[in-house]
Amino acid sequence: MHTTNLTKLLGIELPLIQAPMAGGYTTPVLVASVSNTGGLGSLAASLLKPEEIAAEAAAIRALTRAPFAINLFVPEATPTVSDAELKAAADALEPIAKELGIEPPRPIRAPVVEFNAQLEAVLEARPAVVSFVMGVPPSDVVNRILAAGIKLIGTATNEAEAQALATAGVEVLVAQGSEAGGHRGTFLPAPADRMLGAFPLVQQLVRAFELPVIAAGGIMNGRGIAAALANGAQAVQLGSVFMLAREAGTPPELRTALIELRNAPSVISCVFTGKPARVIRNRFVEMMDQPGIPILPWPHQGPLTVTLRRAALKQGRREFMFLLAGQGAPFIQSMPAGSMIREFLGDYRSAVKQLGL
Ligand SMILES: Cc1cc2nc3c(=O)[nH]c(=O)nc-3n(C[C@H](O)[C@H](O)[C@H](O)COP(=O)(O)O)c2cc1C
Repeated sequence: MHTTNLTKLLGIELPLIQAPMAGGYTTPVLVASVSNTGGLGSLAASLLKPEEIAAEAAAIRALTRAPFAINLFVPEATPTVSDAELKAAADALEPIAKELGIEPPRPIRAPVVEFNAQLEAVLEARPAVVSFVMGVPPSDVVNRILAAGIKLIGTATNEAEAQALATAGVEVLVAQGSEAGGHRGTFLPAPADRMLGAFPLVQQLVRAFELPVIAAGGIMNGRGIAAALANGAQAVQLGSVFMLAREAGTPPELRTALIELRNAPSVISCVFTGKPARVIRNRFVEMMDQPGIPILPWPHQGPLTVTLRRAALKQGRREFMFLLAGQGAPFIQSMPAGSMIREFLGDYRSAVKQLGL
């Protein structure tokens, strides 16, 4: 794969980033394996406590001297929900709890995210790169990251978001298309989230901004990487394909479910966490994504569904699991991350050769 201005800026050999994936998928071993193979491994830290960020960054450092990234969610204002709304949303989950044979979810309130403490831990860990999703990092945060000599990446799902990030001083843009697995990074959805695919979005951002653009969404192999680079992206960010990497923290029951259901349709739904996320459509989605069923906004819905999601995993009940995966899911495969990247390199070369480039 060819080097780009971005690979030079980030100090990596390959224009390939393993996406941060909150929820325990991006173990230090996975991050380090990707970085050791010449890509940029990313640790998802948005759900980690400050001391966990410190410990995981140290574990990565013990395994690689290559650059790696740490990713955080930009904090959002928490919408107010009343006790009655909380109870109604918890009650709506009762039929699923019943099927799983567990207690109905209690109407619990979402814990406060300690963003400032997370940020201190990230700055202390001094990764080569910090990436953000779900918003524009505040200006003091931008200044501190840049002053520390850390490269700064922001995530956009449309041109207005990219503009807001560029104005704030972000150095690199991730163009997250609607094919992408996981939560959508949308933060300026007005007037309506247009759900742009990765390639039209990459082309728009490349045309409108001088900043390097990273393509994310539905890229699962070397052919996809070649196509993204041909579209003007200077690197790619791959998430779903790494969920089954041997080194990922994906639990065995989830691995089995993803393999078995990889050809099933995926949809964007808020039912698990209150924030739009691309998941493989299962009965949880079918039962809850219905008119009249109360779903609380992020961050309130997630704590209500967590016991159900855990029970579904433990019982191997894939119809109720939280199966985050992108439209490229049919191409997921289980192998060590390094071998996967070497395979990408092989198909990238044959694609480029076939096109006579
Ligand atoms: C399980 C999962 C969790 C994710 N968590 C995060 C996250 O914590 N931070 C982030 O910036 N992106 C997150 N993403 C989105 C990825 O950064 C990326 O946009 C997406 O994986 C690209 O699409 P793909 O899954 O088709 O490769 C997640 C994606 C997945 C599949």
